Amino acid sequence: MKILLLGSGGREHALAWKISQSPKVEKLYIAPGNAGTANVGENVALKVDDFEGIKKFVLANGINMVVVGPEDPLVKGIYDFFKNDTLLSTIPVLGPSKKGAVLEGSKDFAKGFMQRHNIPTAAYRTFDGTTLEEGLKFLETLKAPYVLKADGLCAGKGVLILPTLEEAKKELKEMLNGMFGNASAQVVIEEYLSGIECSVFILTDGKHYTILPEAKDYKRIGEGDTGLNTGGMGSVSPVPFADEEWMKKVEDRIIRPTVEGLASEGIDYKGFIFFGLINVNGNPMVIEYNVRMGDPETETVMLRIKSDLVELFEGVAAGNLNEKRIEIDKRSAVCVMLVSGGYPQTYKKGYPIHGLDQVENSIVFHAGTAFKDNEIVTNGGRVIAVSSYGNNKAEALAQSFSQAQKISFTDKYFRSDIGADL
Ligand code: AMP
Ligand code: GLY
Repeated sequence: MKILLLGSGGREHALAWKISQSPKVEKLYIAPGNAGTANVGENVALKVDDFEGIKKFVLANGINMVVVGPEDPLVKGIYDFFKNDTLLSTIPVLGPSKKGAVLEGSKDFAKGFMQRHNIPTAAYRTFDGTTLEEGLKFLETLKAPYVLKADGLCAGKGVLILPTLEEAKKELKEMLNGMFGNASAQVVIEEYLSGIECSVFILTDGKHYTILPEAKDYKRIGEGDTGLNTGGMGSVSPVPFADEEWMKKVEDRIIRPTVEGLASEGIDYKGFIFFGLINVNGNPMVIEYNVRMGDPETETVMLRIKSDLVELFEGVAAGNLNEKRIEIDKRSAVCVMLVSGGYPQTYKKGYPIHGLDQVENSIVFHAGTAFKDNEIVTNGGRVIAVSSYGNNKAEALAQSFSQAQKISFTDKYFRSDIGADL
């Protein structure tokens, strides 16, 4: 079969790497892809939200399945675009309908959904410009720190955690005043939860689900999880506290009620669900839903899936995922992200990357790279993910760190404490 994968980051390179190993795949295209995805498929110069352009490409090239990496095209309704088009309606899109994508696209919707289906999450209320005074009063009833979340998509920047009531009140006013544009026209204020986070992923066909390996990501730029938030500085899988007992709680209290809740609300959902969880005294609670895979979690999760991912995708499309089996690698997998100096604030692009061909026994996923004059150059904040296996986490980390030294570009930076907290 011929597959079109949408996206251009490390997540998409990892998905492309795994998809390309399937004997079922005759041809893999990645739109727009990066310098790394060009090694496992063919890059196509198309934007992920150019639905008309994607339609033309799909029809001209006999594409049999579209796999969506990032949330943006999902929130904009690519699933429905295909479903409602007479020429495209038989071509499966791996991802939720526009209605399903609201689980990520609106924090208020996600919180309401969890409340309706008794899924454990922090207590909350939502406010808008007309209820600012009530919002300020609500803050007074909570204990520090204060959690404010812009309702809409803000490229991972829409959550503020404030240490004092004064700051929380000030930020609430600013958010409702358009700090994140329309995305913060509504703000969710929620109870602060304390615990270690864990990302759990499933594939669902809308009725059945398959649980993928879990992972933990490292969001802050600095060692010891300090400094500004980034798109993710590394990840590890498995997560030690996510043992059989804990995962059973996750399945019973969170995964099953979510899949059943979507079906009972008549929401079409055939794709990945990413549960951002936090472990509160041994009990999993939901911090957020995402309607896609995580980045950089995918760069470890794909290493641990032994089965043919495309066969699972076929189960999702056909609605018989219950007939497919997933085999998981017992080994540990980790990923260390090499980033541009200055990231997540200002940084330069276009520096040549050297040493990629020196890497041994690790898998290099490109996150932000491009070709320039026949050279691979940096083209983003997050540049390269170095993923490795090990018999345990320590072995895998030692392997990734040793290979990370071999790759060089101007102002390269990475965190050397990935996985150290577990
Ligand atoms: P989100 O964009 O919803 O994933 O939030 C970003 C980060 O903020 C999360 O990964 C958590 O580290 C933190 N966070 C969000 N909600 C809460 C909460 N209720 N309690 C504690 N930390 C939170
Ligand atoms: N690693 C978190 C995310 O992809 O949103």
